[in-house]
Amino acid sequence: MKTDLSINFAGIKFKNPVFTASGTFGYGYEIADLIPLKKLGGIVTKTITLQPRSGNPQPRIAEVEGGLLNTIGLQNIGVKAFVEEPLEKLSKIGVPVIVSVAGAVAEEYTETVQILSMQKGISVVELNLSCPNLKKKIICHDLSLMQNIIKSVKKVSRVPVIAKLSPLVTDISELALTAQNAGADGITLTNTYPAMAIDVKNFKPRLSTVKGGMSGACVKPMSIRCVYDAYQRIKIPIIGCGGIMTGGDAVEFILAGAAAVSVGSASLVSPENLIKIIDEIESILKYKNIKSIKEIIGIVKNT
Ligand SMILES: Cc1cc2nc3c(=O)[nH]c(=O)nc-3n(C[C@H](O)[C@H](O)[C@H](O)COP(=O)(O)O)c2cc1C
Repeated sequence: MKTDLSINFAGIKFKNPVFTASGTFGYGYEIADLIPLKKLGGIVTKTITLQPRSGNPQPRIAEVEGGLLNTIGLQNIGVKAFVEEPLEKLSKIGVPVIVSVAGAVAEEYTETVQILSMQKGISVVELNLSCPNLKKKIICHDLSLMQNIIKSVKKVSRVPVIAKLSPLVTDISELALTAQNAGADGITLTNTYPAMAIDVKNFKPRLSTVKGGMSGACVKPMSIRCVYDAYQRIKIPIIGCGGIMTGGDAVEFILAGAAAVSVGSASLVSPENLIKIIDEIESILKYKNIKSIKEIIGIVKNT
């Protein structure tokens, strides 16, 4: 029996539900020598901003038990340089490209998406509304700013717009619903969890900015809970993200309500994990005698 891993996310067809996670796979094309990029469901680029950004000072990564903390601070070459080279190379791979975008104010998001909208080769825009590593507060914690950004980006975007949200809220389903009502075509749940670690040898924080974002295996159950809660309230599709290390982890997210998944820390350990995760999802479906991945989206319910 042939297993169908394809999904339709916000009107775009993906051959399987496994995407890279923003910021953990560079701009996407650099990994071409390491894994067959064509096998991926989708490639999410690192977050792009209107102007280039050098990011936060070192140290920007700290390994901790169960995962890692980062405070990269959206280092990137800026949208104009991005469309000149990385996008050109990415669009030749033959996998849908999801460009992650951030800014400090609504106009920055809109201008960046306007520039992207003049280009070919972009399937979806993901708004990073949840970076925990900037001096300002996390954007989606300001509901009217978040709504403003989604509404103004929707006016200029030629492709579906996804809102990537922070897990650090009292009611994730309310936040997801607010993003949906502002016009988002999909939601990514979640970005990293604000966190910190201290070196007991020198009594200093392990990250230059003291606090950073936690990702990796230990965040998985919390992110699955976010997906599950949001799925009960919203109609738009969800990309599940946070701690996916195996195909089984990905299937858990899908059972909770995700239509697709993004894999970050596991691909930093080894990009090959992305391919393994796709193969493992297929094996699980075969073992369970399920023809299509679409059959299991959100089937776990509180009965
Ligand atoms: C080193 C690093 C850089 C990241 N950079 C970004 C980024 O630029 N934009 C973004 O939306 N998320 C960024 N993230 C968050 C990931 O996309 C993802 O949401 C998070 O790591 C949880 O998934 P994981 O546990 O599979 O890593 C970054 C994560 C890491 C570890």
